[in-house]
Amino acid sequence: MPVSPPIPHDDLIRRRDRAFSPSVKTFPIFPKNPMVLTRGEGAHVFDDAGRRYLDGTAQNLCISLGFAHPLTLEMAGAQLRSMQHCTTLFYNDQQALYAEELIAQMPAGSGDWVVHLVNSGAEAIDLAFTMARVHTRNFEILTLRNAYHGLQMGALGSTAFATCRPPIPPPAGYVSVHHPDQYKGVFGPGVDPYVAEIERTIFAATSGAIAGMIFEPIQGFGGVVPMPPTYLARAADVVRRAGGLVIIDEVQTGFGRMGSHYWGFEAHGVAPDIVVLGKGMGNGLPISGVIVRREIAETFAETRFFNTFGANPVAVAAARSVIIGVREEGLQQNAAARGGQLEAGLHALQAKHALIGDIRGCGLIVGFELVTDRAAKTPATAQGERIQDAMREAGFITVRGTPGRNVFRINPPLCVTEADIAGLLAALDRALADAA
Ligand SMILES: Cc1ncc(COP(=O)(O)O)c(C=O)c1O
Repeated sequence: MPVSPPIPHDDLIRRRDRAFSPSVKTFPIFPKNPMVLTRGEGAHVFDDAGRRYLDGTAQNLCISLGFAHPLTLEMAGAQLRSMQHCTTLFYNDQQALYAEELIAQMPAGSGDWVVHLVNSGAEAIDLAFTMARVHTRNFEILTLRNAYHGLQMGALGSTAFATCRPPIPPPAGYVSVHHPDQYKGVFGPGVDPYVAEIERTIFAATSGAIAGMIFEPIQGFGGVVPMPPTYLARAADVVRRAGGLVIIDEVQTGFGRMGSHYWGFEAHGVAPDIVVLGKGMGNGLPISGVIVRREIAETFAETRFFNTFGANPVAVAAARSVIIGVREEGLQQNAAARGGQLEAGLHALQAKHALIGDIRGCGLIVGFELVTDRAAKTPATAQGERIQDAMREAGFITVRGTPGRNVFRINPPLCVTEADIAGLLAALDRALADAA
């Protein structure tokens, strides 16, 4: 049932643009011709003209099981009807059950874990940094260049994009390190120089004792840049030798999206101290949090920390539906199969279209980079815009990232079908041919 009567397209755009702060418009997907979305179903969304699209963004990777998923509707709906909020000043069954279910998703024998829930990715990142600082009694946090961990003040210190930074003093205590980009990294391919870079940076730019270092297993916003094999485990050794904790940001990679593993870090043989969660965790409801080693949380418990909406039971019920739905519907396996289909299809297109310079990712977190010259890796920005528009016209919403806006990120809901991916690849084939 619509919440309010339909508003004509242009009128709605005008009214939102007038009443919403212009700062909300700084991440445009279709700045010239914005879309109005009215509803979602499975992996698809519908615009105000009734047109159906495959949502290749999963609304910023927030939809995992799918739109209007019956289990989310049932579990979150039941909780909404019985009690829409219960703060952590009280006890509630959803919070207890979810914490147990989440911990059970950690690799067997990996440690004694506890869960702390908040509301957004950046909030959970801030919580992880504070916990690491309080536990180690060290201050500096190391972060990778090209990382995106959110834009609230603490998280912002670890997000490496000038375009996201206001012209005010940045939060103190964050030091960035060159990221091990195997396609365009400053030290070229390989792992050794990037590990040495962490050691050099700790020596040159910190007190020598750090609070921790944060990693995305695949840098998502930065253009789907995966950490190469062995890097995370070796980096973790360096971080621990400097007294720091290993913080893994699973905001994009968690909950089965990687296909091969439930968590991104599992593909790397690294043991985290704090795992940060968000986005698809609640199948679209706002919830985030950390899974943290008990001893770290116990030190942090010496400090009073409260969050009004953290662990809201409706959001927690939705989050429970994600754990149950991914397991019961085999969605991690689907992410592996559909991701494999997408990657194979992209490689076939790369053989045919010189515009595709590189293909990266794992499962349903996939990116491909468009270049006008494969050797120079020159961003094909204008072609990217044409292809994105043509894809939309064909019924596929995709998003482009990186400063050159030439990396397409394909992250549909985990329920995407074989026919959906085949259709996306066929539309992309046509769009690439036209754009060239
Ligand atoms: C890897 C990663 N970490 C953290 C965040 C911040 O999440 P939020 O936007 O919910 O604050 C994002 C958001 O895009 C992200 O991609």
